[in-house]
Amino acid sequence: MKIIFIGDIVGKPGRKILKNKLPSLIEKYSPDLIIANGENAAGGKGLNQRVADELFESGIDILTMGNHVWDKKEIFNFIQGDKRIVRPANYPKGTPGSGFTKVEVNGKIILILNLSGIVYMPPLDCPFKVIDEMLNVDDYDYSLLDFHGEATSEKIAMGWYLNGKIDAVVGTHTHVQTSDYRRLDKGTLYITDVGMTGPYNGVLGVKKEDVIKKFVTKMPTRFNIETDGPKQLNAVYLDLNSEKIYPIKEIE
Ligand SMILES: [Fe+2]
Ligand SMILES: [Fe+2]
Repeated sequence: MKIIFIGDIVGKPGRKILKNKLPSLIEKYSPDLIIANGENAAGGKGLNQRVADELFESGIDILTMGNHVWDKKEIFNFIQGDKRIVRPANYPKGTPGSGFTKVEVNGKIILILNLSGIVYMPPLDCPFKVIDEMLNVDDYDYSLLDFHGEATSEKIAMGWYLNGKIDAVVGTHTHVQTSDYRRLDKGTLYITDVGMTGPYNGVLGVKKEDVIKKFVTKMPTRFNIETDGPKQLNAVYLDLNSEKIYPIKEIE
C-alpha cells in the first residue's frame, strides 16, 4: 500500500503548486492513495466547498484537518456528509463530521484518523485516550494517523505510543518539515511534521512583512497570505508494506 501524504495546503499558492506538481509525483511514486491536510486550503484558514471540490479534482482522495477546521462557516454545510473529509477526532461527542474514515483500495481497507494535539493547542479530549478507543476495531487492513500538533514532544510520544499498533503517524500543523522521518522499531512509519504546501518566501505561508511587523511592534496585525514568489510542496511517501518513508520537497 503506497501513500503520498501532503502537508498543510495553504491558500491559492498551495493549490497552484499542488496542481502543477501532483501529476509528476503520481508518475514517480504510483501511489494507491493521496491524502492531504486541508485545514488552510481556503484563503489560509479553513475549507469551503469550492476549494474542497478543486482539491478532490486535483487528485486528492482524502483531506485531513486541524485547528482551523471551523474557520470557514461553510464547512458545516458539507463536513457531515462527505466521508473524504476527516477532522480531529478529539472534539466533544456530537461535533459535526468524523474523526476517521475508511477507504477501500485494491480490496484493502485503510483507516485514516485525525487527532489534534493539546499542548499549546485548543484544549480538546486527550488524544492518547481517544486513539486507544479508535484503534479498538478490527475491520481494517492498514491505518494512518495525521497528528496535528504544535509540540514536537507530544508528536514523538504519540509515535512511540502507537509503535507497532498503527502503520503510520504523520505530524502536521507546524508547517516546517522535520528531518526525523523513520521507521520505528516495531514497524510504524513516523515523521514529526510533514511541512506545508504553499508560498516559499513567507512565514508559515503568511507574508513575511506582516509577521515581522507583529513581532517588532507587538501590535495586532492582519496576516495576509504571501502570494508572490516561489512556492513549495512538502509531503511524504509511505510504503506501508515495505515499511519505508521518504520525504518529498518540491519548489517552483
Ligand atoms: Fe496548518
Ligand atoms: Fe494547524
